[in-house]
Amino acid sequence: NNPPWPAYRGYHTYSFANATMGHRLPTILGKAIEDVVCTLNQESREDRIVDLVKCIERMDALKQDLQVHATLRPILDDGEADVALWNKEIAKYFRGKDFFNAPWLFAEAYKYRRLRECFSTSLFWGDYDVFFRQKCDTFSRSNDAVFELSTRFVEPFEHEVRLTAEERLEKERLMFIELLQICLWGNSTDLSLLINMTEEQIKALQSTGGDALATTEKNILGNHMHRLWEIVKELKGEPQARIDFVLDNAGFELYCDCVFADFLLQSGLAKEIRFHGKRYPWFVSDVTKKDWNWLMNTMVYGHLFPKATEEEKECLRRLGRRWKRYEEEGKWIYEQHPFWCTGYTFWDLHNEAPDLFLHLSKSNLVIFKGDLNHRKLTYDCHAPYSTSFEDSIGPMASAGGAPKVCSLRTIKSDVVVGLSSGVGERLDEEEPGWKISGKYAVVLVSEGNPG
Ligand code: F6P
Ligand code: MG
Repeated sequence: NNPPWPAYRGYHTYSFANATMGHRLPTILGKAIEDVVCTLNQESREDRIVDLVKCIERMDALKQDLQVHATLRPILDDGEADVALWNKEIAKYFRGKDFFNAPWLFAEAYKYRRLRECFSTSLFWGDYDVFFRQKCDTFSRSNDAVFELSTRFVEPFEHEVRLTAEERLEKERLMFIELLQICLWGNSTDLSLLINMTEEQIKALQSTGGDALATTEKNILGNHMHRLWEIVKELKGEPQARIDFVLDNAGFELYCDCVFADFLLQSGLAKEIRFHGKRYPWFVSDVTKKDWNWLMNTMVYGHLFPKATEEEKECLRRLGRRWKRYEEEGKWIYEQHPFWCTGYTFWDLHNEAPDLFLHLSKSNLVIFKGDLNHRKLTYDCHAPYSTSFEDSIGPMASAGGAPKVCSLRTIKSDVVVGLSSGVGERLDEEEPGWKISGKYAVVLVSEGNPG
């Protein structure tokens, strides 16, 4: 059940694994500790203070473990729904391994699970999210792109009566392709890479206008966008048409995902959208239920954008109210299966989370967002650039019941597949660092196996 290529590991100095395990993760942990200290300084109850100090001590110990390449120990039974899955994987595959010689994907996920444990074993701070402040802050600094989209998409999508059926379909196709790209590039503002980003940098990454999209389309190196449209077009009018999003980051990316999902519903291309988020803070910026609620509520009631005009704020409120209504009506459903916060790749999804696999197999299309989901789909291994997407995702393409899958990912780490021959090799020569810049992307589709 494994691919024939080796997985990246922390000691591979040629890979982003090395910089991540050696520098990025300790930096992320250091910033997380600063966040908890900030909370501590604002707390007045002694029992809560004492308890939080213990959380900080556990974080310090974790940082130390990371820096000395400690052996990975089992996860404590803290009542999370994923403890058994974690400890089974450690016992079966990674007993005696450490942060640097275990596969990068596993070791990195394990670090976030251990971070969770620092709080889940506390008395008062079980729900604490060390990344929440950062996530909110980055969204509040995304105002230009937020209002550009809200003012444009607040009016429900409707066709002019004079249009023929063919013209309507063409209009929908154009909108689909545009919003798909907005949803894709929304993934480039990822907090784990862009710590301390300036407002200008955020703006440059989030430009959503037509020209910006035309120039970035050539950066989509493996591009199945048009095939994806053919798939989605067939769903029109289907009474049960369901599309799933396996979410990545909170804030601006989630907002873009919702703009896209809103269009899919309004245009009748889908009748139901299921969003899959994380049960606890994960890879810095990933969406939790709290982030989801925060976004909807800040849109409707928030005071995040003091410089916005009254008209802009009203557009955002209307959009937020519409999205909340979808949730109430059961057209948008937020889910959080424990499997998403484990170290397993999706090559193991059908075996380790058969209930989830069965659930996804009932969807007409499962869209995986972002870099981490892409790493998990492809086993995060050293596959040749020209490997087909379907071969690289193994059982997620071939197992009986595998749904149609699409990966929308800006490239931020080593594994890259689905390219025409020579493309990756040329970039290796001409543009070192092209695999971690977030400048390039892939939109790759697998047709699934109805079984
Ligand atoms: O830390 C490495 C990593 O997993 C990279 O793959 C990527 O830089 C980031 O973390 C997560 O990116 P995303 O939010 O797009 O999954
Ligand atoms: Mg993420």
